[in-house]
Amino acid sequence: MADFEVSLAQEPDAASLIAAHPNLRMDPVDGLCLEGVPLAVIAKDLGTPCWVYGAGTIRTRLAALRDAFDQAGLGATHIHYAVKANDHLAVLTVMAEAGVGADVVSAGELQRALKAGIPPSAIVFSGVGKSAADLRLAVAEGIAQINVESVEELAMLSAISATAGRTIDVTLRVNPDVDAATHAKITTGKADNKFGIAWTEAAAAYGFAGSLPGLHPVGLATHIGSQILSAAPFRAAYARIAELVRDLRAAGHTVTRVDCGGGIGIPYEGEQPAPLAEIAQALAETLGGLDLDLMVEPGRWLVGPAGVLLSAVVLVKQTAERRFVVLDAAMNDLVRPAMYDAWHGILPVAADRMAAPATPADIVGPVCESGDTFAKDRVIAALEADAVVAILDAGAYGAVMSSTYNARPLATVALVDGSQWDVIRPRQEMSDLWSREIVPARFGTR
Ligand code: LLP
Repeated sequence: MADFEVSLAQEPDAASLIAAHPNLRMDPVDGLCLEGVPLAVIAKDLGTPCWVYGAGTIRTRLAALRDAFDQAGLGATHIHYAVKANDHLAVLTVMAEAGVGADVVSAGELQRALKAGIPPSAIVFSGVGKSAADLRLAVAEGIAQINVESVEELAMLSAISATAGRTIDVTLRVNPDVDAATHAKITTGKADNKFGIAWTEAAAAYGFAGSLPGLHPVGLATHIGSQILSAAPFRAAYARIAELVRDLRAAGHTVTRVDCGGGIGIPYEGEQPAPLAEIAQALAETLGGLDLDLMVEPGRWLVGPAGVLLSAVVLVKQTAERRFVVLDAAMNDLVRPAMYDAWHGILPVAADRMAAPATPADIVGPVCESGDTFAKDRVIAALEADAVVAILDAGAYGAVMSSTYNARPLATVALVDGSQWDVIRPRQEMSDLWSREIVPARFGTR
């Protein structure tokens, strides 16, 4: 069961949600502000639904993460942002400017990272099913490393790399068979998950990699899951990886690098924040003394709290049983509640709502599925039609997972930076929805 699925005895109220988000502030006049910008202004100018990210927030979080590694004596740890969490070019540019590398899982993400100015030498490629085309592109671009997940992939990559006359650095992604105690759909480090090379087969696979042309095995990688809020699963996984590093070296292999994956969680529902210092300490104590180049691949932790989804109330529907607040955002925009039963904070944007009496309501989208529900029995200030709300912690796995289900165009995206803000993706045009669809000429003539 995911930490974020567990309903806490008492859900956090508006004041504690704001207190837990240093990038948010309720101004008595301007209402809810992200960094220095009133969200009501953005909603009015751009309409809703609209994603808003904070560049300053991302930089602050990056600095905190670097600081935690520094404090643990791991200042040299390379950060490779997991692009899948939020792949917008502007977000990737913020990462590039801050000297962060990228962890990509597709040719598309690789090209986005390159386009944003992240150099190939700072890009690693993960994923259980990289296609030949993905691998050819990665080899041609000369990226830093490929995290290989099977012996089959080793053979495939060797052929591609050798044909191109290249030698590429590879790590073997090892499945440490550790339970990350997170949501079943985002746990990846158990033996029955599809990810990685079995812990017991890793040594043989490492030897095999070394025997193949075009490959240079440099180390190991692991990633046990996402939204992990305690240090224990990381410690257990890294201890196993450390043991494997020692075994491989004892068998005469050279191991210089370990990619420790991502997975650090964020408090969606008033949970205690992930203990960064303890996680860094666990890394230091397990892998820190082995003279390795260490890498991490955080996604959610860097960008999750940096984004909100603004939505307006379409109408409030009162039935004999329940009160439904119907929003203009839906599961096609933010799928996490429908897909993982995820809890997201929801705050009215107008300042006067803070003092309004709060009553329970189901906060839903307009899509024709009961799963299109953002919150059940949420105690929230009375909202009327047109009131704007901010759905919190939507910066990771939000817009990237959107679809156009129900023929709903992809929402607008804005980026705040301190007191400035810009549109970074206009709302998708309705005609874009079908602009590449083809109705064969023999139809429509009857
Ligand atoms: N590295 C690898 C190999 C991964 O598979 C992932 C995430 C990450 C790094 C980044 O993990 P993070 O630091 O963001 O936890 N859509 C789900 C989350 C899926 C995570 C998939 N892999 C959600 O909305 O909760």
